[in-house]
Amino acid sequence: MITVKTILHKKKKGEKIVCLTAYDYITARILDDTGVHIILVGDSAANVFAGEKTTLPITMEEMLYHTKVVARGVKNSLIIADMPFLSYQVSIEMAVLNAGRFLQVGACGVKLEGGTPMIPTIKRLVELGIPVMGHLGLTPQSIHKFGGYKTQGVGEKDAARMMEDAKALEAAGCFSIVLEKIPSNLAKNISMAIGIPTIGIGAGPHCDGQVLVLYDILGLFEDFTPRFAKRYVDFAEQMRRAVGQYKEEVEKGTFPAAEHSVD
Ligand code: KIV
Repeated sequence: MITVKTILHKKKKGEKIVCLTAYDYITARILDDTGVHIILVGDSAANVFAGEKTTLPITMEEMLYHTKVVARGVKNSLIIADMPFLSYQVSIEMAVLNAGRFLQVGACGVKLEGGTPMIPTIKRLVELGIPVMGHLGLTPQSIHKFGGYKTQGVGEKDAARMMEDAKALEAAGCFSIVLEKIPSNLAKNISMAIGIPTIGIGAGPHCDGQVLVLYDILGLFEDFTPRFAKRYVDFAEQMRRAVGQYKEEVEKGTFPAAEHSVD
């Protein structure tokens, strides 16, 4: 079984960390079978699973449900649950309670977005035995502050602030940090400056690991594909073809055939 310690050890050994999102039992089982190290129950479920424009509307109850069903499909991978908007920002007590609920339904740790302002919360969670993954750069819960899905950490000042944030997250006890949509050189510098693994998404090849949204790499989510997401297969097209064939056969009366009858 992969643990937080395994993930930390991978950085020491110079081994890349593989992370993907999952929101349901079937895909979690496939990712687990394939040896994906970290399964992130991302709040991107709001976008790619539920069709919302941002990650802001997804609730604790919805994220708990996704985490619970993912956990049923996993034997080895490390399950990290994304804390949804407003589940950890209001008070440390609320963050502890909500993070704890994720652990109760099968997560091994939680991810939360933000740098220095989140330090007291992260310290408390870690103190209480709840592993925390940080998230810097383009943090989608701050979409309205950024005014769009723009690359972060571009100027010297912003880059320096992100470096400080990364060091502060490490000092607070995070076991890894997601770096989203930042210049690869900055991601490289951060990865070299801290002892915990960086997991990049749109942050270049120098991070200690990579994460992508599963539906993007499968070609299932067609509303929008970020440039950094490689599409490995076109599942949406394959699904259309299969469903179309089924429809045609039902309409023509060629399905069910004799072999599909139960008598
Ligand atoms: O919600 C999510 O899927 C994420 C990853 C893209 C890092 O936060």
